[in-house]
Amino acid sequence: MSYNFFVKSNITFGKGAADKLPEILNGHGLKKVMIVYDGGVKAAGISEKIVAQVEKAGIEYIIFDGVIPNPTNEVVEGAAVLAKEANVDGFVAVGGGSSIDLAKAVNVLMTNPGSIGDYGGMNMVKNPCLPLIAIPTTAGTSSEITNVSALIDTRKVIKYVVIDNNIVASDVIADPEFTKTMPVGVTAATGMDAITHAVESYISNMATPLTEYNAISGLRLLYENLPKVVANGADMEARENMMLGCIITGFSFSNANLGFVHAIAHTLSAHFGLAHGMANACVLPYVMAYNAEACPEKMVDLARAIDLPLSGKLDEDKYLLAKALKDLCIKIGIRTLKEQGVPEDSFDRLADDVLKEPVLGFNPRQGVTKEDVIAILKKAYYSR
Ligand SMILES: NC(=O)c1ccc[n+]([C@@H]2O[C@H](COP(=O)([O-])OP(=O)(O)OC[C@H]3O[C@@H](n4cnc5c(N)ncnc54)[C@H](O)[C@@H]3O)[C@@H](O)[C@H]2O)c1
Ligand SMILES: [Fe+2]
Repeated sequence: MSYNFFVKSNITFGKGAADKLPEILNGHGLKKVMIVYDGGVKAAGISEKIVAQVEKAGIEYIIFDGVIPNPTNEVVEGAAVLAKEANVDGFVAVGGGSSIDLAKAVNVLMTNPGSIGDYGGMNMVKNPCLPLIAIPTTAGTSSEITNVSALIDTRKVIKYVVIDNNIVASDVIADPEFTKTMPVGVTAATGMDAITHAVESYISNMATPLTEYNAISGLRLLYENLPKVVANGADMEARENMMLGCIITGFSFSNANLGFVHAIAHTLSAHFGLAHGMANACVLPYVMAYNAEACPEKMVDLARAIDLPLSGKLDEDKYLLAKALKDLCIKIGIRTLKEQGVPEDSFDRLADDVLKEPVLGFNPRQGVTKEDVIAILKKAYYSR
């Protein structure tokens, strides 16, 4: 049976990569761009470096610096009004997944009618988008290379995704130096998001040999280097490996999708505003133990990839990964659901919404019940 594996990105990687920005902008023949970022990226002194490069290109620009974590439809629509009024012909997004996802979503509205909520789901974006240069400052979401934009619908209280090859950034500038200023909690959370992508896409029921190869390669780099960057944010070799691992993993999950962990994380962020990576990390070990029943061999593949000591007994080895992920969460300071402020009496309501998440369709263990979700939330509430 044939399968499709889609990769589009034009990646410039490494120290000083942003020097290429003027050439890229002029290469697209752009006249006026919107530069998209948030307050954290501005405070870290990163956005000013990018603005300087846009000025070097000799083109006009407007700035949208109102990105918020877990961006909402309202923020997208507001930014789209400004981009249309200014008649921009391209975007430069500098920041974490929130900034890049927001720029992707605004870009959809530049060439497609209606409101952003109309484009939730897969392959709903009919017209090609404008050039978008993505400059990640976290090593986590892989949004710089994926065909995904994750947004919050505040009215429906859901986090939904626009998945479409038309929204992939035209160019990526990935300089590990830009990740150096991440606060340690953001480094840990975003790194765990990337690990979750590797693991969930590897066991996804849409996985193919090409996605599996990328998931395994990404996981190796991420698992080895995440504790290093959390312990020492200035370890540039480890920062570089995190960024590489993140891009490699993006090739996997952009094609194979995700699963039960993201179903829970999206629901937690929609209801209580949890940081995406933290929301994933605190349930990841428990969901992996749950999924081990459905794909024991794949769990052993993942354990082997990160050199966990296998006993040779499938019934034991299938849980090694879940255990190692739990140890990692403890080591890098991932917070419990309780510590993240999620009230225990919300679990019933949360579980109902988790079951409505389309991403559950890609999870290897099907037939997830409300009781299953509540049991996982309870475990993540008290312990890492
Ligand atoms: N599109 C995709 O494929 C995809 C995949 C996974 C997650 N996401 C989405 O991405 C969003 C999360 O993105 P994120 O985890 O990268 O975090 P983020 O963009 O929300 O940023 C988190 C915080 O870190 C700060 N920050 C980022 N980089 C910094 C730096 N270098 N120095 C100092 N501060 C910095 C930001 O200002 C912000 O306050 C969520 O909405 C999530 O759903 C998208
Ligand atoms: Fe994610």
